[in-house]
Amino acid sequence: MKGLILSGGKGTRLYPLTYTRAKQLIPVANKPILFRVIEAIRDAGIRDIGIVVGDTGDEIRQTVGRGGRWDINITYIEQPEPLGLAHAVKISRDFLGDDRFVMFLGDNVIQGGISPLIADFAHHGEWNSQIVLTRVKHPEQYGVAELEDDRVIRLIEKPREPKSDLALVGIYMFDHHIFEATDAIKPSARGELEITDAIQWLMDNGYVVYPYIHRGWWIDTGRPGDMLDANSLVLEELEPKIEGFVDRDSQVDSRVTVESGAEIVNSVIRGPTVIGENARIINSYVGPFTSIYHDVLIQNSEIERSIVLENSVIRDVPARVQDSLIGRNVELGRSPVKPTAFKLTLGDYSRIGLL
Ligand code: TTP
Repeated sequence: MKGLILSGGKGTRLYPLTYTRAKQLIPVANKPILFRVIEAIRDAGIRDIGIVVGDTGDEIRQTVGRGGRWDINITYIEQPEPLGLAHAVKISRDFLGDDRFVMFLGDNVIQGGISPLIADFAHHGEWNSQIVLTRVKHPEQYGVAELEDDRVIRLIEKPREPKSDLALVGIYMFDHHIFEATDAIKPSARGELEITDAIQWLMDNGYVVYPYIHRGWWIDTGRPGDMLDANSLVLEELEPKIEGFVDRDSQVDSRVTVESGAEIVNSVIRGPTVIGENARIINSYVGPFTSIYHDVLIQNSEIERSIVLENSVIRDVPARVQDSLIGRNVELGRSPVKPTAFKLTLGDYSRIGLL
């Protein structure tokens, strides 16, 4: 089997972070989401992975490389415009050939890996497709599957009156018949070739589609709140380790990871939390569910349930920073210059919630 990761798209819901960075490279518990996806596919025994890339292709290529560090081969497939998930499959035909493959959205995080479901599909050569579903509280917000006996018979995008609570997770398995479907379907009202239409076409034309019901958590990191949720869930599963320096005046609990070169001075750190390489935490409090990426400085401040990306500085902030997503090279602190006021330099689409 081969793997296909979709890592194009625009990521508009994560502006301003995704103006300057591919959303799939934003770290969750200090590891880019795309790396987590690659590792999940590699751990399922797949060695050939194609990554569909768009405008942010150069950054993804530079960061991910050709796959040597995971002992796999990575092929990049250019998608000139984000014309839909089924379009991404269609343009990957040369790479996929006649092989069966798993397609994984590059911004999704799933608990427990994908080895069991890959094994399920691999053992059923007669299945044309298998789609991963999970039970959700508000199915009307998702693509929803209707089952009959043990098969999928219908997929409906955001149904007003859902017939089941089984939503599509961003993981799909196909054989080569999917290309008949991607050739046959037409763009939807939003101008995209929809993967739900392609799968529906398979079912309508006599091919068999089976469900795989995933029982752990799954997060589609489309919006900032999802990113913080994914970060919390992954942090809870992280194996803590202290590789950096913690001074005698600091309290660091047993669920904290301090990466190499990091320094904790006169501070309190409560886990699950990760402090990245060469980060410095001085006279500060870092609360649960926080990921501080490499080379960040936090001084005389408090922060909780947040993600801070590389090279940012949070210094002398008079109130606790909470539920926040802070980009790269950000400076957050008091201004020494009168008048006493908020002095802000914010990118387009920034969101600030003041006291
Ligand atoms: P989406 O979250 O549906 O789209 P997006 O990334 O453009 O985000 P937004 O809605 O905030 O603008 O995409 C899911 C994943 O699939 C994501 O990793 C990007 C990828 N993708 C492609 O590779 N090609 C495409 O044509 C589309 C629509 C998405």
